[in-house]
Amino acid sequence: MIYLFENAAQIITVDTGGINSKPGSQMKNIGILTNHSIVVENGIIKDFVKSGGKKRSIDKKIDLRKKTLMPGFVECHTHTAFAGSRSNEFRQKLSGVGYEEIAKNGGGINTTVKAVRNSTFDELLQIIQPRIDYFISQGITTLEIKSGYGLSFYDEIKLLQVINQLNRNNPIEIVATFLGAHTYPNEYNNDHVKYNEIIINEMLPYIAENKLAEFCDAFCEVTAFSADEVDKIFSAAAKHGLKLKLHTEQFNNIGGLDVALNHQAVSVDHLEVISDSDTNKMVDTNTVSVLLPGVSFFLNYNYAPARKLIDKGATVALSTDFNPGSSHISNLNLIMSLAALKMNMSIEETISAVTINAAKAINRNQSTGSLEIGKKADFSVFDTEDFSDIVYQVGKNLNCITVKEGEIIYSR
Ligand code: NIG
Ligand code: FE
Repeated sequence: MIYLFENAAQIITVDTGGINSKPGSQMKNIGILTNHSIVVENGIIKDFVKSGGKKRSIDKKIDLRKKTLMPGFVECHTHTAFAGSRSNEFRQKLSGVGYEEIAKNGGGINTTVKAVRNSTFDELLQIIQPRIDYFISQGITTLEIKSGYGLSFYDEIKLLQVINQLNRNNPIEIVATFLGAHTYPNEYNNDHVKYNEIIINEMLPYIAENKLAEFCDAFCEVTAFSADEVDKIFSAAAKHGLKLKLHTEQFNNIGGLDVALNHQAVSVDHLEVISDSDTNKMVDTNTVSVLLPGVSFFLNYNYAPARKLIDKGATVALSTDFNPGSSHISNLNLIMSLAALKMNMSIEETISAVTINAAKAINRNQSTGSLEIGKKADFSVFDTEDFSDIVYQVGKNLNCITVKEGEIIYSR
């Protein structure tokens, strides 16, 4: 089938000239086309043609009615697979109790672990599905979801199976990440060695053999895993063929960044407290810096040094980090506005950060994240004639059509 998407006010291609990423100063160039249409054949971008140009055979025309077409957004860091609520802890935080303090007292991530362990496979599918619908309604066509709230062999596998089932049930691509090293489950609080052994000797082999996850992530932090523990987990995960990601330099700088870079991690995420000199390490590397301003907003602390990273030449992506404890935010549009307002990113840079660079953070940049001939026809269409509105209209979902591999999967 050949489709023509025509009459867009603007087509934002985020063209990379075939490089499929936008480091540093490239992030501001988002490739704005006017008076153009896109030809899609069998789900793949075939051509960009001038409006009113030469006729070609088309099976179906889709009139975009002066709206703005962009690459489908890529949500590259989420903890969408959770159950229960942490509104009580949110109340505690509002009255001055810190996020790390709640975690140290056995709450935080472990509160959600209890709720996930008490939920069946089917219950989890039901709880999570509306969250995916909401992402799709925002124009998100590729979504990463981590495990990390099971923290036992049985419950981590259950969560990954849920994430894989959600991928089969939904029209977008859902990428699964294993986060067994999210924190120590309460029952292993006094035996960290044993829990690391379970991850390395039991969970990772089963996950790899059954292809339940593509990435292995960990949380390198004082309240979670040390750099040395992450190093061992990463070595084992890499041996099993999993690609790596790391939550690091969120509250403390305890050596996670170096471990991740030594292992050529696909991304390092958070970086709220990355040191000035360490920002240099993010230049001329294939590792993407995934920044999560929703966490800084929700926990009311440092924003990551986006300006410094971009000005030096790092490849920066943005994500919601949607989770029940540190960023109960699933609105990517709000994240783009926070990045602009609080981290000094330009509107164009926020767009590169949620498209091609986010795709690179989950190793999908060869197939999606920008509109280039030969890539997937993954689009989001916004109800505006000017892409600036997407960031300027804070918290408002302007997406009105989501297209995955050439097919309309959502419209309003
Ligand atoms: O990315 N940093 C660790 N993990 C999550 C928070 C998870 C939670 O609090 O439930 C994060 O911020
Ligand atoms: Fe996270």
